[in-house]
Amino acid sequence: MMQSDYIRSVGQDLEVPLLDGSYRRYVNFDNAASTPALEPVWQGVKKFMQWYSSIHRGAGFKSQLSTWAYETSREILCDFLGADASERVVIFGRHTTDAINKLANRYPFQEGDVLVTTIMEHHANDLPWRGKAEIVRIKSDEKSPIDPQALEEALKAQNGRCKLVAITGASNVTGLINPIYDLARVAHRYGAEIMVDAAQLAPHRQIHMGRRGDEAAIDYLVLSGHKMYAPFGAGAIVGWPDIFQQGAPDYVGGGAVKFVAEDEVLWKDPPDKEEAGSPNVVGVVAMALAANTLMRIGMDTVADHEARLASRLLDGLKKIPGIELVGPDFYDKDSRVGVIVFNVEGMHHSKTAAILSCEFGIAVRNGCFCAHPYLKYLLKYSEEEAHQLREKLRNNEDVELPGAVRASFGIYNTPDEVEYFLEAIEKVARGDYRGDYVKDPDHGDYWPRGFSIDFRDFFNFTV
Ligand code: ALA
Repeated sequence: MMQSDYIRSVGQDLEVPLLDGSYRRYVNFDNAASTPALEPVWQGVKKFMQWYSSIHRGAGFKSQLSTWAYETSREILCDFLGADASERVVIFGRHTTDAINKLANRYPFQEGDVLVTTIMEHHANDLPWRGKAEIVRIKSDEKSPIDPQALEEALKAQNGRCKLVAITGASNVTGLINPIYDLARVAHRYGAEIMVDAAQLAPHRQIHMGRRGDEAAIDYLVLSGHKMYAPFGAGAIVGWPDIFQQGAPDYVGGGAVKFVAEDEVLWKDPPDKEEAGSPNVVGVVAMALAANTLMRIGMDTVADHEARLASRLLDGLKKIPGIELVGPDFYDKDSRVGVIVFNVEGMHHSKTAAILSCEFGIAVRNGCFCAHPYLKYLLKYSEEEAHQLREKLRNNEDVELPGAVRASFGIYNTPDEVEYFLEAIEKVARGDYRGDYVKDPDHGDYWPRGFSIDFRDFFNFTV
């Protein structure tokens, strides 16, 4: 495979139907939600599928090979994350949400312990912690990442009660990159550990988790395969094994045990103890293939490519009348990953996204990006407005949900796609679109009247 094939995604050249009856090559700027498979990941998965079999319990050659591939994937992931596999545990699960739920269930919090987190988090790094410890949220202004000084003040105020700092590596809304190594130093100085949610960081920037005893070591890190070009349903926690050695796992069943009697269970050591049931071998191997592919491309190349696309998009958006940027109005690769959020003045975000999709074949995400508290903060929603919205939702009343439009880049996107996007959004902003967009009362999203697509023309569960 040539080097250039390494940055191609599966289905990159597919055309999609538009409202005027024509077809157009799809432009996917929704990579922060989910990335397509990169070609080498897909080719690797197809190769592996010939060898796929049950793992950890079969004597057959394919089982032995699959077990080896699954276990080797732990080492590849550690390599990718700058972690030493001999002192870490890698626990595979479904995705970041799954990983943080497990960590929240297994972290040995005691009565009165505090978890410090931030206003920037998506729900996966917020909801699982609720009820597990007392939660303190720190803030930065809308254009800045979390300041280590703010963490220091929060930890000082907690006076040793904070056991864990749980923070995103890069925001899925503003793209702001947090200074995780400086934050780790501060956390450790105050006797706390740090967990980094790397769902948005790992596919875009080099990570160095470090070794035991390093002041700047990242204690726990979680990520998702589907955000790093391996959409086959796997995710992982990489961390210290100690907390998983104690107690019973949060999810139990075959594969996690050494011995079971009617009244007794002997658990295996982690990671097996934490991976009950037949694991997603294909998803895990795909994630390792993606890590290898990204290492081969080089994370500096990834960051440079993203900077080129995001800077151009941002500069272009600033010149279009009626575009309101949300969050930072600057881009540099040390401060942000390639995520740009905006609104078109006077237009609901869902309508903007629908026009881009139905009239230009461009995919973006719109809404609150599973980060309601952060959007409330960025969009400057008052408590009173939030309260009114909540009450209307509680009563199932019709509401215009607040939010924004997000364009987010992957390594396979091209400068031409950015130019096309800018032309499209400029037309949208000046009202140059043809559809009559109406809101669906059931889910609140906009769609052009009379435009229906039969998806069976594109995919019909047959080959
Ligand atoms: N998956 C969510 C996103 O689209 C969090 O950013």
